[in-house]
Amino acid sequence: STEPGSFTSNGSMIVVSNRLPFVLKRNELTGQLERKASAGGLVTAVAPVVISGNGVWVGWPGMHMDNPKEPIPESDPNDRTPTAGLLSRKVVAVHVEPTVFDSYYNGCCNGTFWPLFHSMPDRATFIADHWRAYSAVNEEFAAKTVGALEQITKEQNNQPNGTPLVWVHDYHLMLAANWIRQAADEKHLRCKLGFFLHIPFPPWDIFRLFPWADEILQGMLGCDMVGFHIQDYCLNFVDCCQRCLGCRVDRKNLLVEHGGRTVRVRPLPIGIPFDRFVSLAETASKVMLTNQKIVLGVDRLDYTKGLVHRLKAFELLLEKHPEHREQVTMLQIAVPSRTDVREYQDLKLEMDQLIGRINGRFTTPNWSPIRYIYGCVSQDELAAFYRDAAVALVTPLRDGMNLVAKEFVACQINTPPGVLIVSPFAGAGEMMHEALICNPYEMDEAAEVIHRALTMPEDERTLRMNHLRRRERIYDVNYWMKSFLQVMGSLEEHDSVGATT
Ligand code: ADP
Ligand code: G6P
Repeated sequence: STEPGSFTSNGSMIVVSNRLPFVLKRNELTGQLERKASAGGLVTAVAPVVISGNGVWVGWPGMHMDNPKEPIPESDPNDRTPTAGLLSRKVVAVHVEPTVFDSYYNGCCNGTFWPLFHSMPDRATFIADHWRAYSAVNEEFAAKTVGALEQITKEQNNQPNGTPLVWVHDYHLMLAANWIRQAADEKHLRCKLGFFLHIPFPPWDIFRLFPWADEILQGMLGCDMVGFHIQDYCLNFVDCCQRCLGCRVDRKNLLVEHGGRTVRVRPLPIGIPFDRFVSLAETASKVMLTNQKIVLGVDRLDYTKGLVHRLKAFELLLEKHPEHREQVTMLQIAVPSRTDVREYQDLKLEMDQLIGRINGRFTTPNWSPIRYIYGCVSQDELAAFYRDAAVALVTPLRDGMNLVAKEFVACQINTPPGVLIVSPFAGAGEMMHEALICNPYEMDEAAEVIHRALTMPEDERTLRMNHLRRRERIYDVNYWMKSFLQVMGSLEEHDSVGATT
């Protein structure tokens, strides 16, 4: 692994993502705007590169501001997160009128692309107004990004550095890159453009259900390089480019020809800040669930995570293997997410009912089978749960990568360790070969896999966990960041470690 900040880009980096790496909140007493840090792993790796390269972050500040000119505050002096050093003049907040933002974010991003790209088209809505809002918001992000690029180019005029690197993130901004390229060309601004999709890219016969599918591909192909977590998503994308747009493609080398340029497509599996999770696990206090083995689930409350299937599999375990009753507790932590979207509200109700039913069925005076936390937990608590769990259930129906699986193994510092169960339909399942692989749709089998995990001999657990931990330690989030810079030709030469992809 590599330390954050131990490598740099040879030009300034402009990161463009739906969310800024912090949210703005108004202090109700003082009326002042304040930054609230968010602790994501991506920010840990990306922020140091942006800051050291004098770069910029373009994104939505997490609230609507009546006066878009109101300045963004500097970070709090006590802020120890990686974005503390991101000066407010290096932050570009994108402001969107609330109703347009609603159609873009709740409508198109989370009502259309999220389910469609997770191969759940029945949950997707296709509404022209939402698509128009998506397009308008992407245009606004592109305009703001080009503004930042102009500024950086001006500042660099006297001391020419490497070419600025623009990095666009995720399914919220699939149209932005092409507009950035066009505007930059018109203004004779040099830049390299990269895109990374944090969710799966679906197969062609799913992707083409979207009425404006061609425009999405054209938007993404505005980049020099398009990155995905795994090879399968890369191949799906290349296939779509060929079949929807008629592009010439090279599947072996993952190249797409478009508009007189060759776009590179690359698998760049994201990792976690491994060492940070280890130190959290070393210091966090013990989880108090007297003499119980913990079967742990940690997810945003999202229908892609397979929570209903997971609870039913746990119910089957208690039914078929009654020896686990009063010995095992399932601890499910679910973070409220996208609560304005109907599908998420429905899932919340379904979970409440299902947990009530299962607990009603099995609870005794001394024990209930499921503990359910609907809320966020602190990083310390999270690390303690990961560390003290006997089994982690990471069983999404579909997931781009899934960081929870990786965070769990990082925190497994106790001997003997616990067992990871992972779905083959998560990107993480592709690489974590020493986990127990479990198809969440096959619930009887899933119950058996949980039983196997709970009864696995210590030496086998140790062997498997050691391998898993070794891999995640090497391929951590800084490795991912460095690989991206290397693929873009933007890694400072003396930081280079040879080909990483
Ligand atoms: P997704 O990106 O779909 O939410 P991931 O598993 O890739 O799924 O990432 C989820 C992230 O959210 C992880 O870094 C995890 O630590 C964090 N997280 C999940 N649940 C909670 C929670 N209840 N409290 C705090 N953080 C959480
Ligand atoms: C996934 C997406 C991210 C998104 C996150 C939380 O990880 O890939 O882009 O930020 O979910 O979702 P939210 O809608 O709250 O931003």
